[in-house]
Amino acid sequence: MLCKEDLLRRQDSAVSAAYGAGRFISSRDFSKIQISSKGLNDSVSDTDVATEKFISEYLRTRYPGDGFFGEEQGETGKNSGGRWIVDPIDGTDNYIRRNPNYTVSIAYEDSTGRLSLGVVYNPSQNEMFTAVAGDGAYLNGVPIDVSDIKIPGDAISVIAPPRKSYERTSDYFRLMEDIFLKTRDVRRFGSAAQELCYIACGRVDAFYEMGLHYYDIAAGMMILKEAGGMYSAFSDSETLIEDGNILATNGILHEWYAEKIHKNLER
Ligand code: IPD
Repeated sequence: MLCKEDLLRRQDSAVSAAYGAGRFISSRDFSKIQISSKGLNDSVSDTDVATEKFISEYLRTRYPGDGFFGEEQGETGKNSGGRWIVDPIDGTDNYIRRNPNYTVSIAYEDSTGRLSLGVVYNPSQNEMFTAVAGDGAYLNGVPIDVSDIKIPGDAISVIAPPRKSYERTSDYFRLMEDIFLKTRDVRRFGSAAQELCYIACGRVDAFYEMGLHYYDIAAGMMILKEAGGMYSAFSDSETLIEDGNILATNGILHEWYAEKIHKNLER
């Protein structure tokens, strides 16, 4: 396990890498961006690939013993100690449509697999969310907390339909209807990392999505936990790393949402 100074040093590096990545992403000439498909509703641009290369080189130069797991490169590096988990652009579909809801997401887990830090940066809005285990969560250096909404009828949920696999669409919309009818409103931003951070700073109260990848959510999970929120897989038999079905809330409403998921999806 790394000491706090080592973690804070890695956090500084992750923040610098995210700012550098953000500058690169924002500087691209949109007319020249190359887009290809990795599968159903799964786009990748040459900016994603180049940004991940930039981040991995930046971190590898400073921490040659660390492993690296990125959306575009997969698992690389020595991994003798901890590893970096990176989504260079979470919300690629927003990015390629010039919708400002996309983020650079960088997490670090120690050699035991425990999440130790998270950095999520939205370059368009210049919002830098950060957290180191045990040290609270921050937005642009200012401490943040989840909401204290206790009543489902006051809650705003982020909903994210399973657009990369249509197998459980009707189950999903049954769940959404159940939640929609009992809460204040629903939202969809299109970057899971950002959506987790929005719960962390109290802008919304809950988020659920199926089939996410660990690199989409690792940094946001760390930030949410440090802001006092909660996350879990949809059921005890699933893991977030393998299945990626995540429920995230302000903590107070976790049981309420978990019960709705259980009722509508577990069959
Ligand atoms: C996507 C975003 C989006 C979610 C998708 C993810 P990507 O990540 O997190 O919010 O709905 O399922 O794949 O592909 O843009 O890095």
